[in-house]
Amino acid sequence: MFRVNENFLQLQSGYLFPEIGRRVQAFAAANPAADIIRMGIGDVTEPLPAKCIEAMHAAIDELGHRETFRGYGPEQGYAFLREAIAEHDYQARGANVAADEIFVSDGSKCDCGNILDILGPGNRIAVCDPVYPVYVDTNVMAGNTNGSIAAARYGGLIYLEMDESNGFDPPLPEQPVDVIYLCFPNNPTGTVASRESLQRWVDYARDHRSLILFDAAYEAYISDPDLPHSIFEIEGAREVAIEFRSFSKTAGFTGVRCAFTVVPRDLHVVTCGGERVSLHSLWYRRHTTKFNGASYPVQRGAAAIYTPEGRRQVRELISGYMQNATTIRQGLLAAGFRCYGGVHAPYVWLKTPDGLSSWDFFDQLLQKCQVVGTPGSGFGAAGEGYFRLSAFNSRQKTAEAVARIAAAYSAVG
Ligand code: MLT
Repeated sequence: MFRVNENFLQLQSGYLFPEIGRRVQAFAAANPAADIIRMGIGDVTEPLPAKCIEAMHAAIDELGHRETFRGYGPEQGYAFLREAIAEHDYQARGANVAADEIFVSDGSKCDCGNILDILGPGNRIAVCDPVYPVYVDTNVMAGNTNGSIAAARYGGLIYLEMDESNGFDPPLPEQPVDVIYLCFPNNPTGTVASRESLQRWVDYARDHRSLILFDAAYEAYISDPDLPHSIFEIEGAREVAIEFRSFSKTAGFTGVRCAFTVVPRDLHVVTCGGERVSLHSLWYRRHTTKFNGASYPVQRGAAAIYTPEGRRQVRELISGYMQNATTIRQGLLAAGFRCYGGVHAPYVWLKTPDGLSSWDFFDQLLQKCQVVGTPGSGFGAAGEGYFRLSAFNSRQKTAEAVARIAAAYSAVG
């Protein structure tokens, strides 16, 4: 008889966003006239930058002629895109990242999960709490948790709580860890990490020979010039970190699909047998074996973001979402909510009123205001009592949602 990967049976619940979708669908079926405003999953709503559209059209036309047709591309991405990324996202900010250290893919969520292919068993893994659920669930699937669950936490993982008491700056682990997931600007709290805070993590990783898996999917939302956009802006990071980036939130590619992972050539590990192994070589082997490259028109669309006009259009797109974040943050603060994030990130993290649980507030907000958000407890035990609102929506719907919430909850204290 064949066997299945029984690690999947340890997963505590369905993935968070399908569960939200199920509840919203049930509400909509029972209330067909309700004008529901969705601020749950961080999915973009505005059209792609015109430069991307233009580049993708041109690429499709190329594919329509024998002379310019292309079949399989390089698995790790076309040079035109990797070079543009290296120059604009890294070298322009003083980060030493070369084009051949960049691996283009069809999404950061996939890359975050796939990276576990090149890590061995027995790693002590630290995640922040609250946390993007993909880091946790993929480790459960890979057998990196030990089957026990207590207080909504998996045995075998080390949880680093981020909350009001530590200013959402996760503490260094009390016990040594081998792999650390960090995400800044943070999903779900929308908070950011200073250069000093990231330096502390890089120093920790160098001292303990640990690996930092750094998710920078929201870096484009940073507006303070002193905040780092990449872990590779931090001294020593090339020896200890891998970075995930995505065009999803930067340029509205959630449906188009394009992302990349940076694996520096300086990153090595020593095997049990004493051999020094390059993670770049392992990831190259994995990527070229299991992936055939993001599609050519999509990569052309992504590269267009780095043209002067493309950059201007992306800034405009992001500024629109950040105006929404400001509307949410200011509106909720004025209504008496305690709010975090939303300044360098498209998420506002708020404390639920009256000590409501995250899911109770979710249901109440849906009933009272027909607004959908994301319950903080869906991101981990330390997210209980919090709630996330996403700024990915139109200006008009965001303002309407905030007005409804303010009317229903003013002076929640
Ligand atoms: C979120 O809402 O947390 C994100 O959209 C999820 C994702 O990027 O996969």
